[in-house]
Amino acid sequence: MNRRYFLKIGGLSTLSAVVPSQAFSAGSHVSYALTPKPAKADIVGADFPATPVWGYNGQVPGPPLRIPHGDRLSAAVTNALEAPTAIHWHGIRLPNAMDGVAGLTQPPIKPGETFTYEFTPPDSGTYWYHSHVNAYEQVGRGLYGPLIIEEKKPPTVDRDLIWMIDDWRLTKDASISEDFGNGHDLSHAGRIGNVPTVNGRYKEVVKVRAGERLRLRLINASNARNFSLSFGALNPFIIAIDGQAIEPFQPQQNIIVGAASRVDLIIDMTGTPGSQLPVVDSFYRQSFDLVTFEYENEPLRTSTLDSDIALDLPDMPEPDVNNAVTQEIVIAGGAMGGLQRAMLNGEWLDLREIARQGYVWAINDIVGNRMDMPPLIDVKRGQSVLLTIKNQTAFPHPMHLHGHHMKLLEIDGEKVEPSQWVDSPLIMPRETFTLAFVADNPGDWLFHCHALEHHAAGLGTLVRVT
Ligand code: C2O
Ligand code: CU
Repeated sequence: MNRRYFLKIGGLSTLSAVVPSQAFSAGSHVSYALTPKPAKADIVGADFPATPVWGYNGQVPGPPLRIPHGDRLSAAVTNALEAPTAIHWHGIRLPNAMDGVAGLTQPPIKPGETFTYEFTPPDSGTYWYHSHVNAYEQVGRGLYGPLIIEEKKPPTVDRDLIWMIDDWRLTKDASISEDFGNGHDLSHAGRIGNVPTVNGRYKEVVKVRAGERLRLRLINASNARNFSLSFGALNPFIIAIDGQAIEPFQPQQNIIVGAASRVDLIIDMTGTPGSQLPVVDSFYRQSFDLVTFEYENEPLRTSTLDSDIALDLPDMPEPDVNNAVTQEIVIAGGAMGGLQRAMLNGEWLDLREIARQGYVWAINDIVGNRMDMPPLIDVKRGQSVLLTIKNQTAFPHPMHLHGHHMKLLEIDGEKVEPSQWVDSPLIMPRETFTLAFVADNPGDWLFHCHALEHHAAGLGTLVRVT
């Protein structure tokens, strides 16, 4: 764990900075300094030059921020880029002014300026932070990092690992392909890269020991790539989705991690000492090894741990579906989407004209191209909202709601069990998701596709809570 950027303040002298955060009772204050800046990263290994990236404190991923549940987080962000920026704390139910959406919840942080975020995350779990200015470019260049809110009673594991998954589009000399936001990416699956990485490294080998119990926090920071992971015979338990605990279960299929989503796993390493096991992705036509587990020759123990792995279930406000405001959301557009015309800036236009202006997607026939558009949902604080989201396009869409978590009730009319809380559900072509949430967090919140090129090309809207 990287604690170089870790500093304790709030009544404590800075000398206590060397003491790990767990040493303090809940309610203390953890401060970080984050500087987005150009840097070089060794992504593809020694046979290639280092890749010029943008990273928080020069690292890709940015430093892991880990705070105990109940503590207050502050992050002073000093912009050392030549472009404006801002940081969004993905999945955290925080005050609107701290949400980091430039143009909606704050002005962009200009080059040379510092902006300090400060909030107390109400829920434990696995989250992440990333740029929310020209996100399709800034996230694509490396401006993201993990954010872990530690449970008071975590399950007993030998190691708690973060795998921040990304895919990069690199050229032959391992530099970032500069074709951000090109028309094809906007109108198809988004920017799908050619170099998938875990924690910024291509084809990483992860050393493990037989008998070891891992907690694996998968965080998908890709612009648009979704993952469908197979762990072979290991048969992991899923214990949390999008940061929120779920009754532990062993999925019968691959583990899907849509863009922006998180999945927490418990894995008992039951393989043979000395052996190897690839973790294979097969979301798209061509499958590949994302990482490889390599067992040391010495087992850690000969049987597996049998302690409890369940996390405390989340403390989310339960939506009242019988008294909810209902809203149907139809996602349309993109290549092969059949959308003829839509409303752009209050005017009905042919898709051809809309595309000429750089947009190709719409929600309920409205192109979400601006932060000051009328909100699709406008409710009083405390109102339950029932959403039916229909994907009428040819592409998957990870739909992210800011400031709230949604309870996933049904997929194509079939009840989802056990029920789960999500902030970035991946909706496949022609699927219909039914979700509900309590709009209890005041402010204007983005609700958008987290395939970042899709959002840039109009796939977004606003939820207003007053
Ligand atoms: Cu993770 Cu609007 O973002
Ligand atoms: Cu999308």
